[in-house]
Amino acid sequence: MPTNEHATALERRRQAACPPGVAVQTDRFVQRAQNAEIWDVDGRRLVDFAGGIAVLATGHRHPKIIEAVRKQLDLFHHTCFQVTPYEGYVALCERLNALTPGAFDKRTALFTTGAEAVENAVKVARAATGRSAMIAFSGAFHGRTMMGMALTGKVKPYKAGFGAVGGDVWHVPYPAPTLGVSVEDSIKALEHLFRADVDPQRIAGIIIELVQGEGGFYVAPPELLVRLRKICDEHGILLIVDEVQTGFARTGKLFALEHYPVEADLITMAKSLAGGFPLSALTGRAALMNAPAPGGLGGTYAGSPIAVAAALAVIEVIEQEGLVERANALGEAMVTRLKALKKAVPHIQEVRSLGAMVAMELADPATGAPAAELVKRIQQCALDKGLLLLACGVNGNVVRFLFPLTISDSVFEEGLALLEASVREVCLG
Ligand SMILES: Cc1ncc(COP(=O)(O)O)c(C=O)c1O
Repeated sequence: MPTNEHATALERRRQAACPPGVAVQTDRFVQRAQNAEIWDVDGRRLVDFAGGIAVLATGHRHPKIIEAVRKQLDLFHHTCFQVTPYEGYVALCERLNALTPGAFDKRTALFTTGAEAVENAVKVARAATGRSAMIAFSGAFHGRTMMGMALTGKVKPYKAGFGAVGGDVWHVPYPAPTLGVSVEDSIKALEHLFRADVDPQRIAGIIIELVQGEGGFYVAPPELLVRLRKICDEHGILLIVDEVQTGFARTGKLFALEHYPVEADLITMAKSLAGGFPLSALTGRAALMNAPAPGGLGGTYAGSPIAVAAALAVIEVIEQEGLVERANALGEAMVTRLKALKKAVPHIQEVRSLGAMVAMELADPATGAPAAELVKRIQQCALDKGLLLLACGVNGNVVRFLFPLTISDSVFEEGLALLEASVREVCLG
């Protein structure tokens, strides 16, 4: 019988050494991981339906990614691209210029975190338009830096206690049927904002997640994007799509934007881009990306050669292993199972998805109130049974699934069975 002896000791050390602001969801300290499985320091195994928060489309320790990183380590591991450049950086920018949606001349710059890609999208938008204001959506998550925090549309825990969030940022509601918000509501709010609060001629960009990650896996209806594109074109505003969570096969296309009949001016990427090595990217129209003066973009670690080698291997693995198709197959299988479960469990209010970006929202069957407490109990029950789950949503009442797309059929099936058992046990007793 496994114990939690080592985890308990480590948890004590964590609490004494690290601030609570860096919250941890479980007390499972990892020892090793492979593809969609994690083993903790006490030898307990977990099926991983979290994927390091959407980072591991290609799983833990994919052999081709490990090999690419090892090769790079044997050559050099840091020079700073801005001091002595290297081919990998350029090759990855070429790949992203070709792979991202939009049939126009593009440029790409590499950074380290998702928040940094977002920060730089705002810098490029400001430099290119000569305007400073930004529009984002309620429920959005764009990172924990100052501008990322300002763009984020959720107060607790991201903004609470951190003072004035400047940055000339305005929010409008994101369409979400279970929150009672339609596309029409979002557009009306935007038009009202332009009349009441801010001149559209001052807006540099509108930034949007096509599926709100942290916000609850709400999928933007194509009509919203069509109307946003039109509004942007009318007022000279840039449309910025944040693909940090949705990118790299997760939604059943390489990029979520491929599901939509519009083009974006700038696209941010991170997470699964480099399969767990810290790397982010900003790709956009050449004329916009070329606006900042030399030296205005970059960073000491931006486009690390190790992470770049990993990213080039990730893109190859996605292509060679058909992970776009696999995302669709896994997503469909999970939605079918969850919809069947919903018939037996009235607490499941909605099951929604785009490719493998699947979520289920829970509400009190009697009152319809968001059931955040139930979600927490399902997460704990699943953890006790050996399944790692993530929650999300402005009301904390959504379970989201971000398993590796390389997960084997048997481990996926095992995870689904553990999930069903946990939901039934918590909701039906
Ligand atoms: C859509 C989106 N944008 C930006 C970020 C911030 O990325 P990072 O945590 O790497 O800074 C995240 C992280 O969850 C995200 O989901």
